[in-house]
Amino acid sequence: MAKWLTQMVVIFVLQATHSKNDDACWTHPSSLKWYQLTCTKVNSEFFENFQRSLNRTHWIKCIDCSLNVIDERTFNFPKNNVSFLELPHCGVWSLRKFAFRSFFLMKYINLKDNKIGNLEQKCFSGLKRLIHLDLSSNCIKIITANIFSELINLDILNLNYNKIFHIQPYAFTGLINLKFLYLNNNDLKKLEDQMFKPLTNLKILYLEHNNIKELHQNAFANLRNLNYLYLNNNSITFLVQYNFKPLTSLIDLQLRSNNISEIQVSSFNGLKNLRVLHLGDNNIRTVKPYGFIGLNSLSILELTRNKLKSVQFSYFDKISNLGILWLNENFITEFIVNQRDEVQDSLALLDLSYNDLKYYNYTLLYSKMPNIKEIVFTNNSFNCDFFKNMYDFFLKKHTSICISPSCNVNHTSDYIDNFCFEDSYTTVNVLNITDFSTQSAHKLAFHLYTITALSLLILFC
Ligand SMILES: *[C@@H]1O[C@H](CO)[C@@H](O)[C@H](O)[C@H]1NC(C)=O
Ligand SMILES: *[C@@H]1O[C@H](CO)[C@@H](O)[C@H](O)[C@H]1NC(C)=O
Ligand SMILES: *[C@@H]1O[C@H](CO)[C@@H](O)[C@H](O)[C@H]1NC(C)=O
Ligand SMILES: *[C@@H]1O[C@H](CO)[C@@H](O)[C@H](O)[C@H]1NC(C)=O
Ligand SMILES: *[C@@H]1O[C@H](CO)[C@@H](O)[C@H](O)[C@H]1NC(C)=O
Ligand SMILES: *[C@@H]1O[C@H](CO)[C@@H](O)[C@H](O)[C@H]1NC(C)=O
Ligand SMILES: *[C@@H]1O[C@H](CO)[C@@H](O)[C@H](O)[C@H]1NC(C)=O
Ligand SMILES: *[C@@H]1O[C@H](CO)[C@@H](O)[C@H](O)[C@H]1NC(C)=O
Repeated sequence: MAKWLTQMVVIFVLQATHSKNDDACWTHPSSLKWYQLTCTKVNSEFFENFQRSLNRTHWIKCIDCSLNVIDERTFNFPKNNVSFLELPHCGVWSLRKFAFRSFFLMKYINLKDNKIGNLEQKCFSGLKRLIHLDLSSNCIKIITANIFSELINLDILNLNYNKIFHIQPYAFTGLINLKFLYLNNNDLKKLEDQMFKPLTNLKILYLEHNNIKELHQNAFANLRNLNYLYLNNNSITFLVQYNFKPLTSLIDLQLRSNNISEIQVSSFNGLKNLRVLHLGDNNIRTVKPYGFIGLNSLSILELTRNKLKSVQFSYFDKISNLGILWLNENFITEFIVNQRDEVQDSLALLDLSYNDLKYYNYTLLYSKMPNIKEIVFTNNSFNCDFFKNMYDFFLKKHTSICISPSCNVNHTSDYIDNFCFEDSYTTVNVLNITDFSTQSAHKLAFHLYTITALSLLILFC
């Protein structure tokens, strides 16, 4: 009797599972035109009891699932061909050891938008062919040592939008082929000694939107193949000498929206292949002599929206390939050029717009950058005469200069005419405040005509 009852129950359960299979999952061609299994609203037990043969299914996707914990029983599938596993937004909060052990051919795992806080040791065990692991938008706080150690073929590791505040030493051990590491929008406060040491093949490192205040002098040790380093939107206050020295292949370094106030001697020394350096939106007031030394390949230097007041052309000595220099939106009142400053043959574009310049020696400046193609001067404090003389000077040198808001060369001379007219008009307005008796009014009117006539004379001569 008891035996019979058990058999009945077993049959009932099997049938139930089977019909649930049919409801919850369907097989269809994947975007690569192979078989894909897509399941909706299932939980971990569903996969634990999964009976159907996966045949040649190479892609599994779960939609609106509630998987909670993935452990070695969850995907306990026989030998299979699955190489894509998509489990975004599936309520996963823990990955236990051997969670993906049955997927010998797995190449791509997407676990984005879950609640994973806990990565147990060996949870990625067996994934020797994995190329892409997406763990973005989870709740990971600590990256523990050796957690990725078997992922020797991993190319892309996405850890954006987590709560990572600590990365243990040896956390990245084994990732010898990693090319892209995403750590944006986490809670890192410091980059530790040799923290990326195993990543000798890394090409791109994203560390934006953390709270990084400090870079250990050896933080970037061994990253000899890194091409792009993004550190925008952190709280970096100072750069120590030779901070970036190991990064001999770096092409693009971005340090925008930090809190750097001074460029120290040799801050960037060693970056011999760097072509682009972004330092905009900091608090840079001073550049020490040799601050930019060692940047032999640099072609673009961006210093937009800093606190520079007095700039010396010599800051940019020894950047022998500099082509574009952005100094716009600072508080520059002084642009000092000296006879002994180096000539910047390569400089083609200089942006000084939105500063507070009244004067600078453009003849001398031009002699120091004889190949300049374009200078942007909009929104400074030049007066009419200076404006006109400077414009005429650069016109003769065939340098395009942008001084009107539209930057359209065909409108520039009209703009200058208007500007000079307004300039004289403003002067008259100031006079208007004074004594306004009839007599002086006549005098004043005469004065006004003279001034206007004079300025018109200047314009048309
Ligand atoms: C595997 O193939 C069998 C027989 O063709 C089919 O009944 C079953 O639904 C397939 N399984 C999957 C997961 O596609
Ligand atoms: C995996 O796919 C190959 C063909 O690409 C096939 O021969 C093999 O039987 C499949 N293995 C499984 C377990 O489905
Ligand atoms: C920094 O963050 C602010 C606010 O989120 C954003 O407006 C700005 O574009 C960011 N800057 C960079 C360089 O990413
Ligand atoms: C920025 O740096 C200054 C010192 O230069 C410091 O007083 C200030 O607290 C820093 N601000 C942030 C947000 O780190
Ligand atoms: C600009 O520099 C040149 C060359 O040093 C010098 O001869 C000239 O007097 C300077 N102009 C002004 C107005 O200081
Ligand atoms: C920049 O200059 C233009 C024209 O001279 C002016 O209309 C505009 O208000 C200025 N912008 C700022 C932010 O000063
Ligand atoms: C300026 O005018 C010339 C001749 O009229 C025209 O060919 C050129 O396209 C204009 N440039 C701009 C920037 O409008
Ligand atoms: C000059 O002053 C008078 C009296 O205060 C005022 O009505 C007039 O608008 C002023 N002229 C200009 C051009 O501002």
